Amino acid sequence: MTKKIQAIRGMHDCLPSDTSIYQYIETTLKKIFISYGFSEIRLPIVEKTNLFKHAIGNMTDVVEKEMYTFCDRHGESITLRPEGTAGCVRAGIENGFLYNNQEQRLWYSGPMFRYERPQHGRYRQFHQIGAEVFGFLGPDIDADLIIMTFRFWKLLGISKHIHLELNSIGSIESRKNYCRMLTVLFEKNIQALDIDCKRRMYSNPMRILDSKNPSVQALFHKIPPIKEYIDEESRIHFKELCRLLDISCIPYHINQRLVRGLDYYNRTVFEWVTKDLGSQGTICSGGRYDDLVKFLGGKSTNAVGFAIGLERLVLLIKAIQPKEIDTDQNIDLYLISSGTGTEDIMLLLSETLRNQLPEFTIIKNYGGGSFKKQLARANKYKARLALILGEDEISHNQCIIKNLCKGMQQKVSLTHAPFVLRELLKLLKHK
Ligand code: HAM
Repeated sequence: MTKKIQAIRGMHDCLPSDTSIYQYIETTLKKIFISYGFSEIRLPIVEKTNLFKHAIGNMTDVVEKEMYTFCDRHGESITLRPEGTAGCVRAGIENGFLYNNQEQRLWYSGPMFRYERPQHGRYRQFHQIGAEVFGFLGPDIDADLIIMTFRFWKLLGISKHIHLELNSIGSIESRKNYCRMLTVLFEKNIQALDIDCKRRMYSNPMRILDSKNPSVQALFHKIPPIKEYIDEESRIHFKELCRLLDISCIPYHINQRLVRGLDYYNRTVFEWVTKDLGSQGTICSGGRYDDLVKFLGGKSTNAVGFAIGLERLVLLIKAIQPKEIDTDQNIDLYLISSGTGTEDIMLLLSETLRNQLPEFTIIKNYGGGSFKKQLARANKYKARLALILGEDEISHNQCIIKNLCKGMQQKVSLTHAPFVLRELLKLLKHK
């Protein structure tokens, strides 16, 4: 017997029961992006490995351990994208839409790949919807992005289950000073560090602040907060961002330990986190990356963005089932016919109904069967209404419309059937 071939660990099928939630999220977010003046950009899933190494940083977890990297047939190293920002900046430079700090508001969505240890909310193939804004230095755009994400949560009915963690990590220069101080401090307390932290102590000491190891965490009270190290301009930028969030009534928590795992950030960093999903509770994260465009070979261009992990968002929505999300997959109308000549007429009628009622889901019975059997199938589909055609109805140019929720039925002329169906379905769907 052939061995069953299964999906790759950490990569999942998205089944129809979930796709309706994904589609709802995508449609809702897309509308909001448009209303804030964003345009969609579609980017390749595979890029040259060096792009991610340069953009994300050689010493980050993503580049060190998590990338799906292969050689193509010519021996060139290519990587399945672990995130969207690097590709977006590459596209901007290559296509010339990021020059002289040009303003751009872009959004994208699609699969990302990271070779992480899979667990609830953490996958090797996952999906992000992200946004990147270029050409603005001021904190007003950071605030605007955060306000827009808050609007997402409100429309998805999850705003009470998600909170904002915010920090400023200052300029690249002030971060370097902070890192130097951290290295010295960790050298003095080396006995408390595990192997991973010892490795990061010189290459990326800020990542140690994310450690979950209790003996490492015990050192944290000795570490001065990054705000004592950030430069004056970044401090003013952050203060103004906080003021803008205050007047917009967006609650936030300043988390001095929030440093983010990708190297390109400076100044603002933020994460929207939920407590309802256990350890993988970060639903959306982002920040400023004012040096990346230049670093990747473009002209100096201010930039800020975020990405939402769609799987986590769907898990949260499924956990709290907000009333705002209609995941109803009911069929609106099931078409039933029995008797000589009725099936041919039903075939033609089904197309007429689809022309006239394009907003409703209509399924025609296949495989014949008694009225009783066909009605049982309609109920299995959880259809709202059934339209029934027998020889008697055809001879009078009529059909029966049956309300499957309430059991009531009425005879109507075939000419009036579409109008009656529309009115009934409108009532049933908006109940
Ligand atoms: P990130 O924090 O690496 O940032 O990922 C963004 C979001 O993707 C996370 O908050 C999380 O919801 C989701 N995510 C990340 N890894 C996984 C995983 N293995 N399984 C499921 N979900 C995951 C970025 O990717 C940046 N490019 C965001 C950004 C855009 N910053 C500026 N612009």
